Amino acid sequence: MVTEKRSDIIILGIESSCDDTSAAIIRNDLILSNEVSGQAIHKAYGGVVPELASRAHQQNIIPVVDLAIKKAGISTSDIAAVAFTRGPGLLGSLLVGTSFAKGFALARNIPLIEVNHLQGHVLAHFIQESEVKKKTPEFPFLCLLVSGGNSQIIVVRDHLEMEVIGQTIDDAAGEAFDKCAKVIGLPYPGGPLIDKLAQIGNRDAFKFARPKIPGLDYSFSGLKTSFLYFIRDRMEEFPDFIEENKADICASLQETIIQVLMTKLKLAAKETGIRTMTVAGGVSANSGLRSALLGAAEKHNWEMFIPPFKFTTDNAAMIAITGYYKYLKGEFASQDAVPYSRVSLK
Ligand code: KG4
Repeated sequence: MVTEKRSDIIILGIESSCDDTSAAIIRNDLILSNEVSGQAIHKAYGGVVPELASRAHQQNIIPVVDLAIKKAGISTSDIAAVAFTRGPGLLGSLLVGTSFAKGFALARNIPLIEVNHLQGHVLAHFIQESEVKKKTPEFPFLCLLVSGGNSQIIVVRDHLEMEVIGQTIDDAAGEAFDKCAKVIGLPYPGGPLIDKLAQIGNRDAFKFARPKIPGLDYSFSGLKTSFLYFIRDRMEEFPDFIEENKADICASLQETIIQVLMTKLKLAAKETGIRTMTVAGGVSANSGLRSALLGAAEKHNWEMFIPPFKFTTDNAAMIAITGYYKYLKGEFASQDAVPYSRVSLK
């Protein structure tokens, strides 16, 4: 196997955990390309259909990898290792990326690196986009990881040393956005649409139940239920209630989710004494959450890191950067690595 020391380490990252097929090329921590192919087919079903996702990954993977290599301006023989998402995610989707990565590594006789998708989201903060390096968070820092499948508060002690100190006991924040959006007739994924409508609504118009969960854990299933009953009851009285109040409903719902997230993050900062904060995952694209984080940073004297939009949703750049840090430590996977649908950070 070719693992000789090179001054520049070029890594191919592969991400296929859900409904985005993505490939990226990174040279050390500098991203050279990051191609993402989404799957519009799921829109018609109001959510991701696993079987269709696997099939689309199978069709997309080779063209996406080809494009990533071309756009990076490198040749296949420059690639020192291939990093792939091993989990968590949809098993059929993960199998496509895993099998492709294994085949690629075997054919090129280069190391294979398995990456935890959640760790990838956290390490997205270390991706550099130009030779002029941007500031990255100093250890230890806290990461609020909020996506369609996870809501966690993580203490990050080093690139590869992370501890989850709080997490959802039921639905994730993104799920709360998406499921409530469905109740008011918005298409999947509802999070970005709620965000857009919330910008012209009154966030104090309606009040929804906030969970009372001890410690740093989250819960969003109660909010979803209270939202559903609230809408049902109002619609019985005023059939046009949703249409006439859509922006206010979205703004109030978004405000509730943000307050739930922020309350526990502030508690985590108090309990750990850590003042360097980061946010990751699809929900971190939310404009209300971003301004709440920046407001709290100013008030509590936190140093706040918010990643560019393109690195918040699923992307292979975050898998490639994680692969880079694992390469430096010689943490390689074997050819019998199997994907896992569920896995925590620790
Ligand atoms: O991280 P991600 O792309 O996929 C995983 O779950 O791994 O996150 C997707 C989630 C969806 O629930 C989507 O509705 C939510 O992120 N999302 C948003 C926004 N953009 C994406 N939620 C609220 N506001 C947004 N602007």
